[in-house]
Amino acid sequence: MPTTPLRLAPPAGNGAAPRLPRLATGDFVNLADLSRKEFLALLDLAADIKVHPGRYRDLLSGCGLAMIFEKPSLRTRVTFDVAMQEMGGHAVFLDFTESPLGEREDIMDVARNLERWMDAIVARTFGHESIELLARSCSVPVINGLSDASHPCQAMADFLTLREAFDEFPRIKLAYVGDGNNTLHSLLEAAALAGITMSVATPPGYEPDAAVVARAQALAQRSGARLSLGHALGAALRGAHAVYTDTWSSMGQEAEQTQRARDFAAYQVNEALMARARPGARFLHCLPAHRGQEVSVGVIDSPVSLVYQQAENRLYAQKAVLAALILGHAKGGHPPHAAHSARA
Ligand code: CP
Ligand code: NVA
Repeated sequence: MPTTPLRLAPPAGNGAAPRLPRLATGDFVNLADLSRKEFLALLDLAADIKVHPGRYRDLLSGCGLAMIFEKPSLRTRVTFDVAMQEMGGHAVFLDFTESPLGEREDIMDVARNLERWMDAIVARTFGHESIELLARSCSVPVINGLSDASHPCQAMADFLTLREAFDEFPRIKLAYVGDGNNTLHSLLEAAALAGITMSVATPPGYEPDAAVVARAQALAQRSGARLSLGHALGAALRGAHAVYTDTWSSMGQEAEQTQRARDFAAYQVNEALMARARPGARFLHCLPAHRGQEVSVGVIDSPVSLVYQQAENRLYAQKAVLAALILGHAKGGHPPHAAHSARA
């Protein structure tokens, strides 16, 4: 993969900094848009950023990130904002929770305005096609901060967490129990790129999207990953090093809550369910969590839980993605705006 040297402070005796991956994709919409090498290089970069934040302090000096949110957020919003600030840039929050993207003006016009001032856009939308249209319409990178179809930034942080937690990574089995939703879609793609074993148990009627599964299976064939999907808990949990779940009702599905609570009742991740995985298996959740619904207090608040490590790792994963996209110029658009404002 072509790489660009990082403009970094000299290493402080703890090994050389990884090179900045130059991604073939100019946007970060789905993990399946990355090659295995690019995905692993981003994980390496995120891990180095975590250990040596000072090396990256001025990397995005003067750069700006627009943050479009149609849905609420704690982790995604805060970590993107802090990531930009800690690398010398800034973020501008655009609240689209009251008036969805495309309602006041065309998405294309939003994109063509923002590209004149900003170096990247992160968007959290209901419709995935809104993010795709934004990405097609502007010359600066667009990052998917969660759509109804996928959550690639979350899966990057989750795989950084799994790599930290297991010496035997990637020879691990991850079990996912619950809804076949956006989070699962990105985890399947990440598992396929990383080459791990992943096994999924969803209630009947709540399977992940067949096209996403087919795309992940195609990637898995190349990496040696093993992905299996079904409804049975036993098969999914047997031998699992880690168990992941997410909310039973995603944002926008509030009206289905009662029905979903009934349909998912047998899929609650509690102590009995964890006992069907490997002894000492770790627990993951993207958060926000609903204690007493998809996970019991005794699991999420126990020492096997990795949920706050996952949340912390959002920051480093975000920094890696921002640095690679903004400095990589894979869309062939503007140089970073820091370069414009430095012009005499
Ligand atoms: N996990 C996650 O994306 O959290 P937020 O919805 O708070 O951003
Ligand atoms: N599946 C959840 C993830 C939240 C981070 C949702 O879409 O609401």
